Amino acid sequence: MQFFVDTAEIDQIKELNDLGMVDGVTTNPSLIMKSGRDILEVTKEICAIIDGPVSAEVVALEADDMLAEGRKLAKIADNIAVKVPLTWAGLKTCKTLTDDGIMVNVTLCFSANQALLAAKAGATFISPFIGRLDDINMDGLDLIEDIRTIYDNYGFETNILAASIRSANHMSECAKIGADVATAPPNVIKAMANHVLTDKGLDAFMADAKKAGIKIV
Ligand code: G3P
Repeated sequence: MQFFVDTAEIDQIKELNDLGMVDGVTTNPSLIMKSGRDILEVTKEICAIIDGPVSAEVVALEADDMLAEGRKLAKIADNIAVKVPLTWAGLKTCKTLTDDGIMVNVTLCFSANQALLAAKAGATFISPFIGRLDDINMDGLDLIEDIRTIYDNYGFETNILAASIRSANHMSECAKIGADVATAPPNVIKAMANHVLTDKGLDAFMADAKKAGIKIV
């Protein structure tokens, strides 16, 4: 499963990238606002750090305006994936941009039917939001499973990009289901390494190493 980092914070992207844990980056208007940066500038900077797909989201609602924004974003770098919302205007824009050979990430997906429409519109990525479904007492992971089943039934090539990831457990569950990508905030990716028994075991090893006076260098 590929790891995308869900942030527009350059220093956090660099840190995880140095650890070899970044296959791509996703942003959205809320993350751009949080960064306090200009969308074109910060997206260009991210594309210079990361080789993999970098998702940048349009802010228009009408198809013609979305298309104009999408084409401008796509000019930033070859690894741009234009992010459009799962509306009919977004699906129309997705079809046109993918026909032009531009990667498209269809976002704000909350149902299997929406994901089916995005695949038929030729989307490169579909972004189902797990956490926001959990927030309303639905099971967001069920949606990932349903989309995996449907896409495999018909051989759709759209990549399932699990989004709105809130915990390390969401990551392993997505991997078990067979999501192609999971995009998570930096702190969630870091938390994946945490285990109390690893800490406990390391403490015991270190204590014994000290007791035995083990020296390697
Ligand atoms: O990529 C979408 C993601 O940023 C939304 O996450 O935690 O606001 O639901 P969240």
